[in-house]
Amino acid sequence: MKERQFTVRYEAYESMEELCEEDRVLCEAAIEAQKGSYAPYSRFNVGAAVRLEGGTIVKGSNQENIAYPSGLCAERTTLFAASANYPGVPIRSLAVTGGPDGTICEEPATPCGACRQVMAEYQTLAKAPMSVLLVGRNEIWKFACVDDILPFIFDSLDK
Ligand code: THU
Repeated sequence: MKERQFTVRYEAYESMEELCEEDRVLCEAAIEAQKGSYAPYSRFNVGAAVRLEGGTIVKGSNQENIAYPSGLCAERTTLFAASANYPGVPIRSLAVTGGPDGTICEEPATPCGACRQVMAEYQTLAKAPMSVLLVGRNEIWKFACVDDILPFIFDSLDK
């Protein structure tokens, strides 16, 4: 038996001003998108935004339903909207923010496993790293690619 360790690498910024212009604009879009969240059941409002190759930004938010499993997280709402409206255009970056009752959590809210898996698929399609920005009130975390937030990605049937 060999014990192995896995290091998760990400950048932590203390404020949006520290980000490069492109990332700052995308984080602001995610904050704006949170206003469209429909979450009367959990009252946890999440906003997301993606930047496509070429610069187009697509926004989305979590959408709940009285039949709970019918709802969808902000990340997947946004990624699916981007792919549906701009088929084949690579998704280069994703920003997410959220918190209870329209607030933003101090430490960034982190995406669920299903959303990470969906990110992985669009990163594979893009044939380029998709960066992931998680916006909290006190810190912004930046993952250079989906692999850094989803170790041991399942992304191929040819293993
Ligand atoms: N949610 C998201 O939109 N994204 C996440 O990464 C985690 C959870 C939503 C789903 C649900 O509407 C609410 O937050 C509470 O789980």
